[in-house]
Amino acid sequence: METVTVGLLGAGGIIKGCHLPGLRRIPGVRLLAVADPAPGKAQEIADSAGIPHAFTEPERLMEMEDLDAVVIATPNIAHPPLVHAAAERKLHVLSEKPLALDPGTADRMVVAAEAAGIVHMTAFTYRFVPSMRWMAHRIANGEIGAPHHFRSQRFQDYGDKHRGWRMVKEICGSGELADMMSHRIDYSHMLIGPMAGLFGKVKNLLPERRGEDGSPLPSDVDDWAALIVEFESGCTGVFESSKGVAGYGQGLKSHDFVEVNGTDGSLKYYLHQPTTLWYAKPNGMYEAQPVPEEFLKLPGSPRDPREGDPGQTFRWDQAWEFISAIRENRPASPSLADGARVQAVLDAALRSSEEGRWISF
Ligand SMILES: NC(=O)c1ccc[n+]([C@@H]2O[C@H](COP(=O)([O-])OP(=O)(O)OC[C@H]3O[C@@H](n4cnc5c(N)ncnc54)[C@H](O)[C@@H]3O)[C@@H](O)[C@H]2O)c1
Repeated sequence: METVTVGLLGAGGIIKGCHLPGLRRIPGVRLLAVADPAPGKAQEIADSAGIPHAFTEPERLMEMEDLDAVVIATPNIAHPPLVHAAAERKLHVLSEKPLALDPGTADRMVVAAEAAGIVHMTAFTYRFVPSMRWMAHRIANGEIGAPHHFRSQRFQDYGDKHRGWRMVKEICGSGELADMMSHRIDYSHMLIGPMAGLFGKVKNLLPERRGEDGSPLPSDVDDWAALIVEFESGCTGVFESSKGVAGYGQGLKSHDFVEVNGTDGSLKYYLHQPTTLWYAKPNGMYEAQPVPEEFLKLPGSPRDPREGDPGQTFRWDQAWEFISAIRENRPASPSLADGARVQAVLDAALRSSEEGRWISF
């Protein structure tokens, strides 16, 4: 089995909860270095995971001789320069979402990665939820006929708690839209196809949030976002996402719902029940169906689908897709192009909200 040597850029929450456990489970993956400018953070991860090198300068990691690939898991503004640096060095790249702060920058990232001939991937992690994979398979197989409605809701209750860099527009691009709805836009591209046009609305509910010490901190991004969409196929789409919905909690157990209604039936999914899918025939009522064994993990994934909380562990299959694509010398899915396609929708949603008009693609 080919050894793949990987460097980690960023030592924050998603590296710890998703990328590191995923990569560490794959035989032949060698984690060489981790870099994070925040003092002590890279070293802490290196010590806990037995990674030989820790840097506070990302450039030093990029300059290492032996690297094959990097994972970029920094605040959004740092994704583009790091993807370009990886492409220049011909390092395969898995970048967190959203790829960039604007669509032109995201498109240039795709061009650079393609020109470099590297394997490139966007971390739309929720594509790896077992019930979402089964849903995509069943829709592609025509089991619910032609989809005519797509619906997505992402509701969490953050109260007035601060959101760190996620509430600073010049670092994150947008708030709830980029943070949560980007994944749901990607679901819709995967399940239904490209969008023809949209009407978007975003709203900042709290211009000040409460810092760790209780002091007020400014927030200049949206906490709520909604889209009304028409897909090229004629299917309609309605998306709503908010951090201000009392009653739904936060994180893995909060409300993430996707439903597709077609001419021959409906399917719906909830993130907090990742091994169950709901199916209804025309004129029937929804029934819960357990996800079959072959969809509980990606083919060949070293992950035991019965290990840990299934609402967390599905994420580890993302690393398996990235490393498998490198070893098999094939494109990874979802690619940076999928990330750029979502970036165009984020931009259209913000413009539509600001200008109060329908935007066609
Ligand atoms: N795919 C998912 O499900 C998912 C979930 C959570 C976060 N994310 C994305 O992952 C990214 C990171 O989120 P997080 O929650 O881990 O944030 P975080 O704030 O916990 O960690 C980010 C880390 O990056 C470091 N950093 C900043 N600039 C850097 C640079 N140039 N090079 C290396 N490190 C740098 C910061 O010091 C920080 O430690 C964001 O883009 C976010 O949208 C994705």
